[in-house]
Amino acid sequence: MNRTPHALLPWIFLLLAVAGGLFLTARDMTGAGHAIVTGTAEVGGPFRLVDQNGTVRTDRDFRGRWLLVYFGYTNCPDVCPTTLAVIADAMKRIGPRRARLVPLFISLDPARDTPRALKTYLAAFGPEFVGLTGSPAAIRQAANDYRVYYATHPLPHGGYAVDHTGVIYLMGPDGSYVALYEDASLGPDSLAADLRRRIQS
Ligand code: NI
Repeated sequence: MNRTPHALLPWIFLLLAVAGGLFLTARDMTGAGHAIVTGTAEVGGPFRLVDQNGTVRTDRDFRGRWLLVYFGYTNCPDVCPTTLAVIADAMKRIGPRRARLVPLFISLDPARDTPRALKTYLAAFGPEFVGLTGSPAAIRQAANDYRVYYATHPLPHGGYAVDHTGVIYLMGPDGSYVALYEDASLGPDSLAADLRRRIQS
């Protein structure tokens, strides 16, 4: 996500997604005032993508484990690395539950985010992270299923950036939606506390 006039679009999209089937029934405000949202939702779905080692991975490969699902791209200047760092810090604070939770980073920039690029990028955040990329059509499908908005826009000095929703989803061991964190501003302590509460050991 980038701090541009486009930055409101992901929020507008999230509001549309709520109207379209993401029914948010409870908001637990953390001490810092950032929302953790629970409720029923039609979020997620089958995917078939390629991980940072070049291995085909589907949603079914992750049954039995909890997932933190975040969509972004490796060239993101600020929000993606901040979010991944918060997830990585939270992972360190949940004790043995760590073995039952997989952070998924799904690329919204498959043209640049090859498996090799994902592998280099994710090495900074920890060995648990699974990076996924794929064909533009497969990525579009996954983003739509998770109600994630994204769009590229050209940068003034060449190249492009990708505006995108910054939501982190928690999915349960059966693959169903459990909760969402609006963005990483809740911080690693609040995220870890919520994960410890939900993932019963
Ligand atoms: Ni980003």
